[in-house]
Amino acid sequence: MIAGKMPSWLKKAVFYEIYPQSFLDTNKDGIGDIKGIIKKLHYIRSLGCNAIWLNPCFESPFQDAGYDISDFYKVAHRYGTNKDLKNLFYRAKKQGIRIILDLVLGHTSTEHPWFKASCSAKKNFYSNRYIWTNSVWEDAGGGLKSIQGYAERDGNYITNFFHFQPALNYGFTNPDPKRSWQLSTKHPDVVRTKEEIKKIMRFWLDMGASGFRVDLAGLLVKNDPDYEATMVFWQEIRRMLDKEYPEAVLVSEWGNPLKSLSAGFHMDFTLHGGDFSDMYNSLFRKGEQSFFHEKGAGNIKKFIQPFTACYENTKKIGYISFVSGNHDMLRLSYRKNRRTLKSAFVLILSMPGAPYIYYGDEIGMNYQEQLVSKEGGYERTGSRTPMQWKKGKNAGFSQAQAKKLYLPIEKGKYIPNVESQEKDPDSLLNTVRKLIRIRQQYPALQADGDFSVLYAEENKYPFVYVRSMGNERILVALNPSGMNKTVSIKASDIKEISLILQDNVQSIEIKKGMLNIKMKKFSFGLWCINPQTLKK
Ligand code: NOJ
Repeated sequence: MIAGKMPSWLKKAVFYEIYPQSFLDTNKDGIGDIKGIIKKLHYIRSLGCNAIWLNPCFESPFQDAGYDISDFYKVAHRYGTNKDLKNLFYRAKKQGIRIILDLVLGHTSTEHPWFKASCSAKKNFYSNRYIWTNSVWEDAGGGLKSIQGYAERDGNYITNFFHFQPALNYGFTNPDPKRSWQLSTKHPDVVRTKEEIKKIMRFWLDMGASGFRVDLAGLLVKNDPDYEATMVFWQEIRRMLDKEYPEAVLVSEWGNPLKSLSAGFHMDFTLHGGDFSDMYNSLFRKGEQSFFHEKGAGNIKKFIQPFTACYENTKKIGYISFVSGNHDMLRLSYRKNRRTLKSAFVLILSMPGAPYIYYGDEIGMNYQEQLVSKEGGYERTGSRTPMQWKKGKNAGFSQAQAKKLYLPIEKGKYIPNVESQEKDPDSLLNTVRKLIRIRQQYPALQADGDFSVLYAEENKYPFVYVRSMGNERILVALNPSGMNKTVSIKASDIKEISLILQDNVQSIEIKKGMLNIKMKKFSFGLWCINPQTLKK
């Protein structure tokens, strides 16, 4: 377990995820670009976000939206140049915004020069950079996916995801002696791959990046069921960061904080897949059975159990990050009542760790159904459509002809957009802004504030919890269902409460040691507990 220091800026970090091709196009080619992100930094700042996770922006044939890299050291032409990215780091930092890049180190594109060299029948420096069996007739076994008959080299290569994403070679735990192509994690060629990864990280950190979100972080070493060797790899990387870049942050796409945070990551996401997917899906992604659904048929226990198990065991070493969504999921708003969305954001923005808002979720952008797959998106495509800034041409995303756009803008007269919601104090956008402002105001609501449950009963609403830091205690109550709910909780230590923000709460009172909350449908509230103790 790594008990290094956390970068200090993470305490107050609220991230905004940007899918660069869909954010803002400034050169009329229909695809978003880095200059577009620079133009919108003030908007991101206006939300209260102080960090950005940028999806992959490197040279790539874009068969998987950039998760198939062909040059780790070069910004993709369609987004701009390395100079533009450097400028983005600089301009963002000036506005108090940090940028983390997507580090896709499990695989590359088949177009990467390393892979092309490794395809050669002649042994060379890159022959072992990827995992190849010894013959095209040899099945890789062990549940590994392999591609047969691709190159002049006699062998099959292992892929991590799609067929054009060959796995980089991080070796095997207990290599099978009968399969001499399985290298140990200490093999010099494997060590060389690892050193190259460090070089890539240093390159971007030196240019101004503040860290990385790591793609498929748990899947590096093969035949590693308990992730032990993969964890050793990450602990080494963390030691490098602690020593050379102590303010840089590592976030894993792993979905198992027990493993990832022990491996040295500063944060791990709550995800819709992986070992703890229930912790996330039970809240947002179980259709009508989600806790955040107007039906009111969710079960908060399904969230509390895995979350508590992860949180209690990791809170001293790292953070669990709640996300409104990401480029791999259906949009948060999918088949949800608009009013439920607000309380979903209350939870996302009031939990421990550092939250992430996926671009467009703050205005409730819709998942576009039935789009033809773009760049390997398949069903994910509908969550990757252009940001809707205003009414009118291409919703302000681009000046290109509509048919040239990366993906279409939502159809309809009243599509969610920033300009309209700016004007409405009650809009989702302005609610999100308020919630972030409140989070930034109260340390108890930030990353390190403690979390404890006050009321979370099987198949019941509301969900009530407390966040605290020192004397500061904040009570949060959520009723995202379309029904009125009342709750009485024994709470003799609560003497007084003062309102921070509420929506549709009928009443809250403390009487004879009981906290009674009457919540109308679609309601939420945040209150300061015993505020007089704070004044002392
Ligand atoms: C996870 C990324 O989030 C996803 O978009 C990508 O397709 C796969 N990893 C493969 O890199």
